[in-house]
Amino acid sequence: MQTDDMTDIATLQSELTKGIEAAETLDALEALRISALGKQGSVSGLLKTMGAMSPDERQVQGPIINGLRETVTAALAAKKAALETAVLNQRLATERHDMTLPAPETPRGTVHPVSQVMDELAEIFADMGFAVAEGPEIEDQWHNFTALNMPETHPARAMHDTFYMAAADGEEAKVLRTHTSPVQIRTMTSQEPPIRIIAPGRVYRSDSDATHTPMFHQIEGLVIDKGIHLGHLKWTLETFLKAFFERDDLTIRLRPSYFPFTEPSAEVDVSFSVENGKRVLGGTGGWMELLGSGMVHPKVISACGLDPDVYQGFAFGVGVDRLAMLKYGMDDLRAFFDGDLRWLKHYGFGALDVPTLSGGVGA
Ligand code: DAH
Repeated sequence: MQTDDMTDIATLQSELTKGIEAAETLDALEALRISALGKQGSVSGLLKTMGAMSPDERQVQGPIINGLRETVTAALAAKKAALETAVLNQRLATERHDMTLPAPETPRGTVHPVSQVMDELAEIFADMGFAVAEGPEIEDQWHNFTALNMPETHPARAMHDTFYMAAADGEEAKVLRTHTSPVQIRTMTSQEPPIRIIAPGRVYRSDSDATHTPMFHQIEGLVIDKGIHLGHLKWTLETFLKAFFERDDLTIRLRPSYFPFTEPSAEVDVSFSVENGKRVLGGTGGWMELLGSGMVHPKVISACGLDPDVYQGFAFGVGVDRLAMLKYGMDDLRAFFDGDLRWLKHYGFGALDVPTLSGGVGA
């Protein structure tokens, strides 16, 4: 090894380390790194010469050249860290965040009033020991009509009132269920009494005007046990309606009526009053018809395979959309299903809002 070479390497090392020390920006430092360690760099050039050296020569030169590379690499890393710290300190010294600025609003969806009301109903009835039951929206005629004591001749079965599906070969046409009452049948045929259920869901009728939409929502109630009588029905409905409308002064009236699946049947009216020119439920100003109910017809009980001499029960059915309109003051049913975001923003409920229900039954 020649002394000259060693002097050259020492010179190169001192030039490089001085240059690195003097670099003022990360860009300048990177340019230096490339000039030393890049493909065409000065240090890389020296490393390449080692391949052509004799073993003796390499033994002497190798450590020196590798030492150069290590020194330069370490100097570059140290300088890089120092420059980055300086850049960060500079930013910290000059940038300011105004924590008092209002945060940008995140867009949030709302819960549809129908979903909200169904949740409220499930909560109220859960407090009274009712479970939630479900049935299919595409229903067979036996569950939707026949088992409910609605004969072939019943007007609700007419083509112009009910949506019939195309029938499969040799099979009876299915229907879009016209009410939630078939869930009564499905529950009685699949569960042992005592039964206490509500069944909320979509129903369909061939009807459309300001107060009727072809699809709407009902909630069905059913209780089957030994010794059930009209008094149980009346108490249950009154307790539910008081809790739902959050009015202790709400009273109900049962008017004799007719449904094929109940005997006796009763139309239930609720009391209303006029406050600030608006009708509100509760008080003693008048009666408003709200729902259908009755004692489950013995024929329905036996159609489900139960003995009507042993088991009795009551049932009721009510429009969920109508309950929502009355409680939250909405007057056009069609707007419920238009999917207009402005309407939903106005009438919808925040998913995380405190429930409007002040605490359910007995609160
Ligand atoms: N299913 C009836 C309808 O859609 C409502 C109804 C009336 C349901 C009386 C009942 C009931 O369970 O007892 O018009």
